[in-house]
Amino acid sequence: MDISKRPIGIFDSGVGGLTVTKEVINVLPKEDIVYFGDTARVPYGSKSKELVYKFSCEIINFLKQQNVKAIIIACNTVSSNCYEDLKSKFDIPIIEVLNPGVASAIKVTKNKKIGIIGTEATIRSNQYEKKIKDKLKDAKVYSKACPLFVPLAEEGLLEDKITIDVASMYLEELKKYNIDSLILGCTHYPLLKNTIKKVIGEDVTIVDPAFETAIQMKKFLQEKGIENKDGGNHKFYVSDKSDKFDFICSLVLKENHIAEKVSIEK
Ligand code: DGL
Repeated sequence: MDISKRPIGIFDSGVGGLTVTKEVINVLPKEDIVYFGDTARVPYGSKSKELVYKFSCEIINFLKQQNVKAIIIACNTVSSNCYEDLKSKFDIPIIEVLNPGVASAIKVTKNKKIGIIGTEATIRSNQYEKKIKDKLKDAKVYSKACPLFVPLAEEGLLEDKITIDVASMYLEELKKYNIDSLILGCTHYPLLKNTIKKVIGEDVTIVDPAFETAIQMKKFLQEKGIENKDGGNHKFYVSDKSDKFDFICSLVLKENHIAEKVSIEK
């Protein structure tokens, strides 16, 4: 089969990667996409690196069986903890979300005070801070893990009172540091963007790595000459069936899909 016609694989622990998928569809409307959400095992952010690596390997093997031509890790937890290991293990092009997030933040910050929110595993890895300081030596980086954001997003509680209360609890501390930009270092968080913006304040620019990630994929496909010119089909798989996944999928992508449950565990 002509490689350009093969789909792009995208994965996350659950619905979070749909925020990246949305940008991929905008930037690459003619690409076929196979999405995998590990809804049976979400959240990844509170799990060990070893376990997240094992899950990621199972997912990549599954996506390879779907004949994908390249993969986007639409998950900061996997990107920050396992990207290098996955890249050396698998013979398939893999794009992650951290570098695009860092590039976007550096573009928008003026006072070089950058906030990062993410899962416990992403914040613990310290990768965002390291990558920002590699590019912008005198940057001040302030990080905060916000673990409850993931279950709130999975539940579809996007702008509810409880979500505002939780966001206030987490973000109060960051407000002290006069940050001018805040990286959403978890792909679930753009679902809570309105709430986060309300709490952190209108003068802080919210940085969502998704758009830049989609651009990276586009550049890669162009460089290799393997863009699809006449696709556009999107297929969704989950490890546990849930109506919530389908609901959030229709909310984010404005497309109706019924995700198919598959078993990928080894
Ligand atoms: N959406 C993922 C991320 O970007 C994973 C969140 C989780 O499962 O804890 O980190």
